[in-house]
Amino acid sequence: MTQPNLPPLADLLHEDLDYICSSLRQELPRLAGKQVLITGGAGFLGYYLVQAALHFNCTVAADQPIRITVWDSFARGRPPWLEALAGTPHLTVQQRDITQPLPEKMPDFAWIIHAAGIASPPFYRKYPLQTIDANIIGLRNLLDWSVRQRERGRLLEGFLFYSSSEIYGDPSPDAIPTREDYRGFVSCTGPRACYDESKRFGETLCVVFAQQFGVPTRIARPFNNYGPGLKITDKRVIPDFARDVLNGRDIVMWSDGRPTRTFCYVADAIIGYYKVLVRGRDGEPYNIGIDRPEISMAELAQKIIALASGLFAYRGRLVHKANPEAVYLVDNPYRRCPDISKARRELGYEPRILIDEGLRRALVWYHYHREAEEA
Ligand SMILES: NC(=O)c1ccc[n+]([C@@H]2O[C@H](COP(=O)([O-])OP(=O)(O)OC[C@H]3O[C@@H](n4cnc5c(N)ncnc54)[C@H](O)[C@@H]3O)[C@@H](O)[C@H]2O)c1
Repeated sequence: MTQPNLPPLADLLHEDLDYICSSLRQELPRLAGKQVLITGGAGFLGYYLVQAALHFNCTVAADQPIRITVWDSFARGRPPWLEALAGTPHLTVQQRDITQPLPEKMPDFAWIIHAAGIASPPFYRKYPLQTIDANIIGLRNLLDWSVRQRERGRLLEGFLFYSSSEIYGDPSPDAIPTREDYRGFVSCTGPRACYDESKRFGETLCVVFAQQFGVPTRIARPFNNYGPGLKITDKRVIPDFARDVLNGRDIVMWSDGRPTRTFCYVADAIIGYYKVLVRGRDGEPYNIGIDRPEISMAELAQKIIALASGLFAYRGRLVHKANPEAVYLVDNPYRRCPDISKARRELGYEPRILIDEGLRRALVWYHYHREAEEA
């Protein structure tokens, strides 16, 4: 491939962080001057959750900064972007497995974002118990602490649990686009059950703690996020395709290409998550994603090929292969598309970055990150 003429990485990140912070003009000030815990903050979503809060500190709230604590087990290593933030004022990063007992002394967290967990299907199939434990034991540890905080008279203003669109399983066609009140069609014994069922039970815990103890739990159900921060080695579809492109080889499709998804660019999703945290109702789930366009995996691959041909003079094509992992497609939902009218109505959530622009941004980001990540 010829050397591309791409925008600098710093410009792309700056634009995204400006977009996130300006869309959260009403929400981020509620976190100013407060202690905020982000578990799993070294992961994909942590990338912009953390950097958006820091960007807010630099650009808006220098006198009353958000004080961010990241806890992460670093099970898959310490990401370079987080290492590069070492020494940043008002950011504390600690290695901690959230399934273990919490420390005796904890800061007075006013806001908690529980994003720790294993999210990529090949990894959760490999580590099913760790997947369950982060969603159940880790969540319970934080909820019990929240009750003790309330008993001590300390104010916890919001608690966000990351559930998943996977709690819907493989919805019947009449339940697409899928609303929050759809109850799901989910296997409790299949290869994805460790993930889907622990997210479902995690939601139940959140509802019970809201009702019984007044913990301000709010639940986000993310639908297929992608973009900066998602490791190229993460074994999700867009980084897999990007990896093929950047290695100058054909794009490999592990299915017949017919299943459909809507893909939500991560900057839009992060806006949604902060809105759920700050404005969501207690014990309530909110779909966070984008409702258009719903495209097949084959269409996704063709879009990436077209974009990569313009960006990198890529000349590959789409090829189909059987995945060596026998259960790769078992219980894989055929269609996935959210109804986001509840988040629109209650939170003022409105995703704006459509797939072509989001994919372009993701490919540029992967161009800059591939070598560091594959090393
Ligand atoms: N990204 C998506 O499209 C998506 C979709 C649905 C749900 N979610 C949920 O959102 C959350 C964040 O997703 P992500 O894409 O950032 O995942 P990710 O895998 O990129 O990051 C998760 C982070 O959690 C950490 N972690 C795992 N187990 C831990 C433990 N026991 N203690 C402390 N840290 C631990 C990992 O080291 C990692 O840094 C997850 O709960 C995931 O299930 C994400």
